[in-house]
Order: sequence, then C-alpha cells, then structure tokens
Amino acid sequence: MNPTLDLFSPLTLGSLSLANRIVMAPMTRLRADGTVPTETMATYYAQRASAGLIVTECTMVSPLSRGYLNCPGIYNSEQIAGWRKVTNAVHERGGKCFLQLWHCGRVSHPALLDGQTPIAPSAIAGEGQLHTPIGKVSLETPRALETEEILGVVEEFRQGAKNALDAGFDGVELHGAFGYLIDQFLQDGSNQRTDKYGGSIAGRARFALEVVSAVTEVWGTGRVGIKLSPSNTYYGMRDSDPKAAFGYLIQALNSFPVAYIHLMEPNESDLSTGRVLHPVAPLFRPLYKGTLMTNGGYNKASGNSALINGHADLVSFGRPFIANPDLPERFARDAAIAEATPETYYGQGAEGSEAGYIDYPFLET
Ligand SMILES: Cc1cc2nc3c(=O)[nH]c(=O)nc-3n(C[C@H](O)[C@H](O)[C@H](O)COP(=O)(O)O)c2cc1C
Repeated sequence: MNPTLDLFSPLTLGSLSLANRIVMAPMTRLRADGTVPTETMATYYAQRASAGLIVTECTMVSPLSRGYLNCPGIYNSEQIAGWRKVTNAVHERGGKCFLQLWHCGRVSHPALLDGQTPIAPSAIAGEGQLHTPIGKVSLETPRALETEEILGVVEEFRQGAKNALDAGFDGVELHGAFGYLIDQFLQDGSNQRTDKYGGSIAGRARFALEVVSAVTEVWGTGRVGIKLSPSNTYYGMRDSDPKAAFGYLIQALNSFPVAYIHLMEPNESDLSTGRVLHPVAPLFRPLYKGTLMTNGGYNKASGNSALINGHADLVSFGRPFIANPDLPERFARDAAIAEATPETYYGQGAEGSEAGYIDYPFLET
C-alpha cells in the first residue's frame, strides 16, 4: 500500500523517464496505406503524446503475420519510413512511443496471405471470423510449424525489433496476448506439440522466451515490454491451467531485462464464460519483480487504486484514449470523459481515415 502514488506520479522505466503512469494501450485502427503508416497516423499518435507512454497498434513482423487488412507492418523500408513520421511527431510533442510487434499465427486466412495457409503451433483452428478481400470468412485450420521453422519466426521478431530501432521508437512491446501466435504457443488449447515447443508448460513457454531473448538482445535493458492476457477467451483461446502456464512465464521473465509486463484483465465477454481468472493483476503481481502494467476497463479512480494497492506500477487505457486525445489532462481536471464511437474504431485504409480518428476534440483551455 502506497497512498502517495497516483496516475500522475512519474516513473523511471529502464533508462526512460515517464512523465506519468497513464499509458495509451495498443489499439488496431486499420488506417494504414496498405501496410504503410501514414501522416494521419502520425497526427493521431502525436495528439495523444501526453500519455506517459504510447504503445502503438499491433504491427506485422512479416507478410505471413497478417491477420487484418490495412494493418501496418515493420518488415520493409517503406514501413520503417512511415513509422519514422510517427515517432518524430510523438517526440516533437515530448511523448514516448513503443511499437507493438505482432504475429497473428492462426488468426488469419489464405485470402489475406496470397493463398498461403496460416501458421500455428498445432493444426487446430481458432474460432471466429475475419474480414478479407473475399469478404467475411471463418478461421480455418492452420499449418503446424515444423520444429526447424520456428527459429525463423523468432528471427522475424528480431528483425522487426531492429527495424523499430531504426524507425526511432523508444522500445517495443511483444504482443503475447489475445490469441495470437505467442499466446497460441503458450496455451494448451492451441498447442499440442510433442517437440521442445510443446508438452510441458516450460515447452509451451519456450517460443515466448526465445522471442523475448532475441528482442532484448536488440534493444538492451528496459526497452522491451510484453503483453499477456491470461483470461482472454477470444478466438477460442483456452488453457487447462492458466494460473500455472502464465505464472510460469511471468516468473521466467524475471530473468530477462524486460521493461514491463502488460497484463490484461478479462472483459465482460471473458467473464461470462465463468471459467477465467479474475482479477488478474493481484494474482500475478507477487510473481514478478519488475514493472507491471495493468489494463482493462480502468478509469481514473480504479487506476489510482491499482497503483495505491500495489497491484501495478502503470495503468494502460485503451478505449478512453480513442475519444479523449488529452486523457491525462481530463483526469487532472476531473473533466468529462467522452465516449468513442465503436463504428469508427476500425478504418478501411488511408482514404477517409480521419473520421472517428483524428477529429475527437481536445478540452477547451
Ligand atoms: C479498437 C481496439 C483495437 C485494439 N487493438 C489492439 C491491438 O492491436 N493490440 C493489443 O494488444 N490490444 C488491442 N486492443 C485491446 C486494448 O489494448 C485493451 O487491452 C482493451 O481495449 C482493454 O482496455 P480498455 O478497457 O482501457 O479499453 C484493442 C482494443 C480496441 C478497443
């Protein structure tokens, strides 16, 4: 218990000084020009630079990691140049920005991959549907990666991390949440491998830790975060013992020079299954010695409580940042928090991307 802490207490994160503990959570907005970040995206992130830290939308580490249309990448020079516009704009406003590195794994479709079959730890289809160039389609059975191929995917994350460095980011966050590739390896509902990347919990956590190892080699100490969602049920995710699986990974991360672990709480749909861990942050906090970021459904009061009670060191806000570009100032002034319009959460590429994106107003001074 530390009653002197609140969302406005500064925090030292590795060698970075964060002005406050209000983090903008990663949010896919699907407004890239194909896979290239745009000027409009730079404007959007710069508008939100008063966050202590911005984590960008999930970003593809390779063409095969594509799960959505108009989602940005970080595997070619055009994309790096596009992201450089974003980091310059955020830095000009005094902000700090991590890129979220992502591989969708089985949450894709041949229609998004030039006819190729999505890859995964095991040939087990996820649940749900995706928008593709041929319309809305259900997830299909992916191809299980051969053991020898897995190192190649780890290398894609390493290259993505190098490219993020080149693009001027302050760090990277690994997307280990929401049923994508890293999460698919960890949970036994999607990983039934019998090689060293499966079987025991240690085997299933191996892929995540190899990626963490590769990416921290690129970035050094205190510049790599990882997001985990132990209670997410999207895309048919499940584990027979999530407390043990996530507990193992979280404890193992103590041995790596990571900046933070970003832990997502279940949402209403996860809770309605009646089978998820809740609340997540207090459960795993004792296992991790480093900086913990909590996320999911927070407002100013509950965010402050999480800090005061020692459940986390940082609080990330997703949806509140969509409609409130100046969220920290609104919290400081106890001003009204605007509601975002869900219909414009996701765009359809660069054209006409401004509406519901960069047109949410700032407070009057
Ligand atoms: C439109 C939208 C897009 C999102 N995209 C991502 C994403 O790219 N990566 C990610 O880790 N989480 C993503 N999330 C989840 C958020 O980061 C966050 O975990 C979730 O919204 C809960 O936080 P909140 O209650 O403060 O909104 C997304 C959420 C929304 C609303």
